[in-house]
Amino acid sequence: AEVDLQAIHDHLSTLAYRAGARILAANPTQSAAGTKKNSADIVTATDRAVEELVREELRGRWGEGFDFMGEETYKEGDVLGERPTFIVDPIDGTTNFVHGEGYLGLAVDRKPVVGVVYNPFTRTLYSAIRGQGAFLTSPFYDHARLPLRDPEPLTSLSQCLVAVEWGSEREGKDYEVKVETFRRLGASKKDGGAMVHGLRSLGSAELNLCKVAEGAVDLYWENGCYAWDVCAGWVILEEAGGKMVGSMPGDWEPKVEQRRYMAVRGGEGQRGVIEEFWGCVVGRVE
Ligand code: IPD
Repeated sequence: AEVDLQAIHDHLSTLAYRAGARILAANPTQSAAGTKKNSADIVTATDRAVEELVREELRGRWGEGFDFMGEETYKEGDVLGERPTFIVDPIDGTTNFVHGEGYLGLAVDRKPVVGVVYNPFTRTLYSAIRGQGAFLTSPFYDHARLPLRDPEPLTSLSQCLVAVEWGSEREGKDYEVKVETFRRLGASKKDGGAMVHGLRSLGSAELNLCKVAEGAVDLYWENGCYAWDVCAGWVILEEAGGKMVGSMPGDWEPKVEQRRYMAVRGGEGQRGVIEEFWGCVVGRVE
């Protein structure tokens, strides 16, 4: 049956505002937060409660025809199935949340087709439906189309502002590739670096993607996040004229579950800048 993307989008937006209110009402502390695989992989009771709220609401409204994949109920080995799937991260940026800031992301469908990302602390809602553009609503903007201004051409990586994240993996090959690549991005040309304008880490993959969609950041590169960290932002990015590729050289057709991504904003020169960035990646992870 046809999936009514507009109705799903509108329901997700309403749910995002409700979940945001729940997040704002919480008072997380570092001491009460738990951890998953290590001390940098944080989870709070609010993450679980918000996922539960969202899951129950979605099940009640959309019923049995849809599957659900959520960060807090995911089990190793779960994969996206054939059916349309809501992909939900109740709080994307849990680390920010326990340090006093937070973000909420929601996404739907096994291919990113509807995306809603809400930051309750700045009351900013980003949303998109495939084929219909991406929009931002906040105290300063009323359903403004993204990007917020006409993109200037992307001329060279050295003119770019780049978002990256440490993520929660702090050892092994993925970590090594990240650290060496960060060093190369920052280093001067004389030392073989790209000397980008700067690195940013907003602490939320979804929010990094939305900043690229907005045009405030040129590129975002990360190894290690999951489908629920990128699914919503992916549609928002592409509907704003941006492009999602893999983080490793040559990967022009990324899949939503592959955990290695690079996003580049819209505008002339995208392809050249992607290739230039791939030339700075030190080592390879699959
Ligand atoms: C994390 C954030 C972070 C990224 C990590 C994610 P979570 O999501 O998106 O920016 O670097 O890879 O796991 O765990 O806070 O939902």
